[in-house]
Amino acid sequence: MRHFLTLADFSKDELLEMIDLAIKIKKETKERNFVPYLEKQTLGMIFEKSSTRTRVSFEVGIYQLGGVGLFLSSSDLQLGRGEPLKDTARVISSMVDMVMIRTYKQSDLEEFARYSKVPVINGLTDSYHPLQLMTDYLTMIEFGKTNPRVAYIGDGNNMAHSWVYLAAIMGFELRVATPKGYECDEAVVQKALELASKSGAKLIFGNDPKEAVRGCDVVTTDTWVSMGQEDEKEKRIKDFKGFMVDSNLMSLAKSDAIFLHCLPAYRGYEVSEEVLEKYADVVFIEAENRLHTQKGIMVWLDSKRGE
Ligand code: CP
Ligand code: NVA
Repeated sequence: MRHFLTLADFSKDELLEMIDLAIKIKKETKERNFVPYLEKQTLGMIFEKSSTRTRVSFEVGIYQLGGVGLFLSSSDLQLGRGEPLKDTARVISSMVDMVMIRTYKQSDLEEFARYSKVPVINGLTDSYHPLQLMTDYLTMIEFGKTNPRVAYIGDGNNMAHSWVYLAAIMGFELRVATPKGYECDEAVVQKALELASKSGAKLIFGNDPKEAVRGCDVVTTDTWVSMGQEDEKEKRIKDFKGFMVDSNLMSLAKSDAIFLHCLPAYRGYEVSEEVLEKYADVVFIEAENRLHTQKGIMVWLDSKRGE
């Protein structure tokens, strides 16, 4: 049995198998051919943080695969009143076929997975957002960016960490520009550099957005204030001055470059209104692709049971 906790747990071939499944299932879905790959299966979806895309895409996705999703808010679960995570994991995983969790600490997700009898999927932690990066990879392929040079501008957060792992495993060039003091976690960078030395990926870390974007095929960013950091909002807005992806910055990328954003987007902060609307046809396909990618990942995880 395999869990989906971080991209670094998988080989390039395994991630490509999931992407291939996503492409196949997306095509079937578009033809309204809902193949029941996960007939009668139940997905438990535990949310300790807010969500629009992750919740809707999993709930719709598991239904279209022939199963059913249970939305479990931590404030309604006994977990929110102090029931230990390991007990929650043993109980829920004795009744459902797969679990998705969105939480704060990666170590909590890992603890849940250790006690779970069924595959556990990372629906976002403070450290990583691997589902989003699989989606972004599919979206890049669909827009013809198969060996992209990517610039990530902004916070060295969960999205940045997952971009770093994706590039390191898949073997493409990623330039990360963060403000000073908001760099990626050093352990993630070291692990990624190790992976990159095998895949041929080029990982460049710096603090200059212009230098990062110059000549890129894909430009991306994320909120400056992640869930759980609301108290730091004012300071962060000051510290991230000069890191907004606006038309001037985009003009340094290749003329056919695309812009990606995991959403939700905060216009006037990490991205300008103009850029978000100019690339809306990409960004909202990216959002829709959460549905297709996650179906591919769930079907892949199901196929690994008992191995
Ligand atoms: N991109 C993303 O994970 O969106 P939600 O927070 O709405 O799930
Ligand atoms: N970095 C953001 C991503 C939201 C999808 C957060 O963690 O809030």
